[in-house]
Amino acid sequence: MLLRFLLYAAVGSAVSSATLMPRLDNGLALTPQMGWNTYNHYSCSPNESIVHSNAQALVDLGLSSLGYRYVTTDCGWTVADRLPDGSLTWNDTLFPQGFPAMGEYLHDLGLLFGVYQDSGILLCGSPPNETGSLYHEAQDAETFASWNIDSLKYDNCYSDAATDYPNVNYAPSTSPEPRFANMSHALLQQNKTILFQICEWGISFPAHWAPSIGHSWRIGNDIIPDWRTIFRIINQAAPQTDFAGPGQWPDLDMLEVGNNVFSLSEEETHFSLWAILKSPLIIGAALKDELTAINDASLGVLKQTDVIAYNQDSLGKSASLHRRWTEGGYEVWSGPLSNDRTVAAVINWHNESRDLTLDLPDIGLQHAGTVKNIWGESTAQDVRTSYTATVAGHGTMLLELQNTTEAGVYSTAKFGNLSGQTTTFGQIYAVTTSSNYTLTIYFSETSSSTAKITIGSSASNSTIATQVPASSASISAKIPLTAGSSNTITLDTSLSIDAIHITAPNGTYYPCTNFTLAGSSTLTTCGTGYCQPVGSKIGYISPSGTAQTTVSVTTSGSKYLEIDYINNEIAFDSSWGWGSNSRNLTVTVNDEDPVRIEVPLSGRHSELFGPGLGWWDTATLGLLTTGWKEGSNEVVIGNVGGDEGFQSYGADFVGVRVLD
Ligand SMILES: *[C@@H]1O[C@H](CO)[C@@H](O)[C@H](O)[C@H]1NC(C)=O
Ligand SMILES: *[C@@H]1O[C@H](CO)[C@@H](O)[C@H](O)[C@H]1NC(C)=O
Ligand SMILES: *[C@@H]1O[C@H](CO)[C@@H](O)[C@H](O)[C@H]1NC(C)=O
Ligand SMILES: *[C@@H]1O[C@H](CO)[C@@H](O)[C@H](O)[C@H]1NC(C)=O
Ligand SMILES: *[C@@H]1O[C@H](CO)[C@@H](O)[C@H](O)[C@H]1NC(C)=O
Ligand SMILES: *[C@@H]1O[C@H](CO)[C@@H](O)[C@H](O)[C@H]1NC(C)=O
Ligand SMILES: *[C@@H]1O[C@H](CO)[C@@H](O)[C@H](O)[C@H]1NC(C)=O
Ligand SMILES: *[C@@H]1O[C@H](CO)[C@@H](O)[C@H](O)[C@H]1NC(C)=O
Ligand SMILES: *[C@@H]1O[C@H](CO)[C@@H](O)[C@H](O)[C@H]1NC(C)=O
Ligand SMILES: *[C@@H]1O[C@H](CO)[C@@H](O)[C@H](O)[C@H]1NC(C)=O
Ligand SMILES: *[C@@H]1O[C@H](CO)[C@@H](O)[C@H](O)[C@H]1NC(C)=O
Ligand SMILES: *[C@@H]1O[C@H](CO)[C@@H](O)[C@H](O)[C@H]1NC(C)=O
Repeated sequence: MLLRFLLYAAVGSAVSSATLMPRLDNGLALTPQMGWNTYNHYSCSPNESIVHSNAQALVDLGLSSLGYRYVTTDCGWTVADRLPDGSLTWNDTLFPQGFPAMGEYLHDLGLLFGVYQDSGILLCGSPPNETGSLYHEAQDAETFASWNIDSLKYDNCYSDAATDYPNVNYAPSTSPEPRFANMSHALLQQNKTILFQICEWGISFPAHWAPSIGHSWRIGNDIIPDWRTIFRIINQAAPQTDFAGPGQWPDLDMLEVGNNVFSLSEEETHFSLWAILKSPLIIGAALKDELTAINDASLGVLKQTDVIAYNQDSLGKSASLHRRWTEGGYEVWSGPLSNDRTVAAVINWHNESRDLTLDLPDIGLQHAGTVKNIWGESTAQDVRTSYTATVAGHGTMLLELQNTTEAGVYSTAKFGNLSGQTTTFGQIYAVTTSSNYTLTIYFSETSSSTAKITIGSSASNSTIATQVPASSASISAKIPLTAGSSNTITLDTSLSIDAIHITAPNGTYYPCTNFTLAGSSTLTTCGTGYCQPVGSKIGYISPSGTAQTTVSVTTSGSKYLEIDYINNEIAFDSSWGWGSNSRNLTVTVNDEDPVRIEVPLSGRHSELFGPGLGWWDTATLGLLTTGWKEGSNEVVIGNVGGDEGFQSYGADFVGVRVLD
């Protein structure tokens, strides 16, 4: 086995950088694997004609030529008993020609042969019992190689010896890792490279161990055929978006596109997010069988070539959650693509069509030469600061941005309007209302003598007049801006201006230890290095349990807050099915209306065996709050209305940065 060490810096706004672990590097899955699997449509009842007709359809419908090539027969294929020599066999009622012949059939179609097995004593879907591979790894890997398989999806049912092999145990007393490692090693002994898909349901933070033994790992619980599953899965993916790379992919589970459980715009959202988070794209619909065929609209989603290209992009980095407007019902995910491009997705959680705006600075950009709107089927040029488009109910605005400029950089050519000695810069963005933005003015050439400059901002009626010393290439000043994207800055000078750069204030951090507790809330001290940057957290925040402090600011208006929170203990059994992998928090300023944010999971260590059980890993999410006045403000972190929610306790609170 070859190991390669990869390092990269995270690009997400909220999550700290991660070190990629050594990975299994055998040349497979350099981009996320694509294919088809029986489970989402046929459950554990596959058969030969089903697999044949769907495989043929992958070819006939033009899907295989787009990359969908791994064809896997999921649970239901094998039997309770092994052959006398101990080897695995197929159910010959369901697969009369047998599995080796299935492989030949697929290979003849130019497809790849995927097999499914389980790291426990039985397969998922038992009873009726189907034997698993636990304690038979070496022999089963040899059998698979003799069948000439190309991939193995390896599941996690009936696997926990310590609790007598129950179907499911989300909190086993030992990590799944050694069981998956045993099969990985057995596969590596074979004379053929086999793609290994680890299906451990996200248990024990697999991003830290799965890449060294497999090509993909499940980030969480199974997808279910209901729209709410999308929010649940991406909330579980949120803390795990730093770990994708060639040969190591976070698996959000198989696609429901084409199964007639989502509307078309919901399918677009599902497919877009799976693609840009770099999940394997495994079709779970009936493409063609004796009874049914996929509908054309869903097929169009699966065949969207731009979206497939984002998934298969050579850079291999996942998009991450950048901003969520819980009350507004939308959010932004974004990540880098090769060739200096960026992909962004704005999800409309409301079930009505409406205009939504992406402020480019929320994804780290200020200007885009070209914005391609994939589902909107339009292209815009010269996009300054904001992009607005209509997004269908439950749909997603999926954008590819090219020729971009980083946030805070405003060239005169793109943003300036020159009239006499006055240059007016428009569409200036401010994340928060503050009098403490740093403006740096870059001149086209250094001045030969001192020159006067007057600086005005739409956020103030007064101007700043100052002298630019001779030989200056740039000059800086503090200026006020109002939260939003429609500020203007006016510069009066004889000097020619090339560009201005604007930087937001860093703000002031209020650790949870500076808050006063009320009601159910309690302060906990965490282990060394956890609950960063404070070392403590406040838990049991509820409709009647709050944390309160006084915050002094220099300007009134809307303030952007970055909340550090911890939310990992809500994962797994409490978030299966209808769960959401989220908790609410509310921020109330001066008794105004509370602003709610529903935060995703935070954990980046094992929830079972790591230090603090992954319950001490901080995540950060920002939100805009209103009601601030100059001077002292009372700020209450709580969970107002939590009784109406799915979880009445809010996320644990570590601290908050107030940008003033
Ligand atoms: C395979 O499944 C299809 C669809 O459920 C069914 O019509 C067919 O009879 C099955 N074939 C066998 C051999 O079980
Ligand atoms: C094979 O599958 C059929 C249909 O599900 C089932 O009735 C039969 O018991 C299975 N055979 C074995 C040996 O498990
Ligand atoms: C199925 O497997 C379990 C676990 O090995 C065993 O206890 C049970 O008796 C089996 N059931 C049948 C019908 O073989
Ligand atoms: C790989 O090994 C299997 C048996 O383990 C054998 O059937 C097959 O011919 C071998 N393939 C190659 C390419 O050597
Ligand atoms: C892995 O395989 C080794 C060698 O066969 C065995 O001793 C060990 O118990 C296996 N581990 C697990 C967790 O199955
Ligand atoms: C969303 O709206 C559509 C069309 O109005 C409706 O058919 C569908 O049931 C709604 N979905 C949900 C989850 O409410
Ligand atoms: C990007 O900018 C270059 C140079 O200004 C231009 O040639 C190219 O057409 C632009 N591409 C897009 C997609 O905007
Ligand atoms: C403005 O920001 C600077 C750092 O850039 C900081 O030192 C100063 O205290 C801030 N002023 C106010 C009034 O917040
Ligand atoms: C500027 O002055 C006008 C007219 O007096 C006033 O309406 C406006 O609120 C002022 N704007 C600011 C930002 O102070
Ligand atoms: C603001 O934060 C940035 C990034 O952490 C840091 O480099 C810079 O020194 C900070 N500025 C001030 C004035 O604290
Ligand atoms: C938090 O409390 C400590 C100790 O009382 C104090 O020194 C510090 O200034 C406070 N921090 C803020 C941001 O108020
Ligand atoms: C968050 O609050 C909203 C509105 O009350 C509610 O619908 C949702 O279920 C809550 N989320 C959780 C995880 O409780």
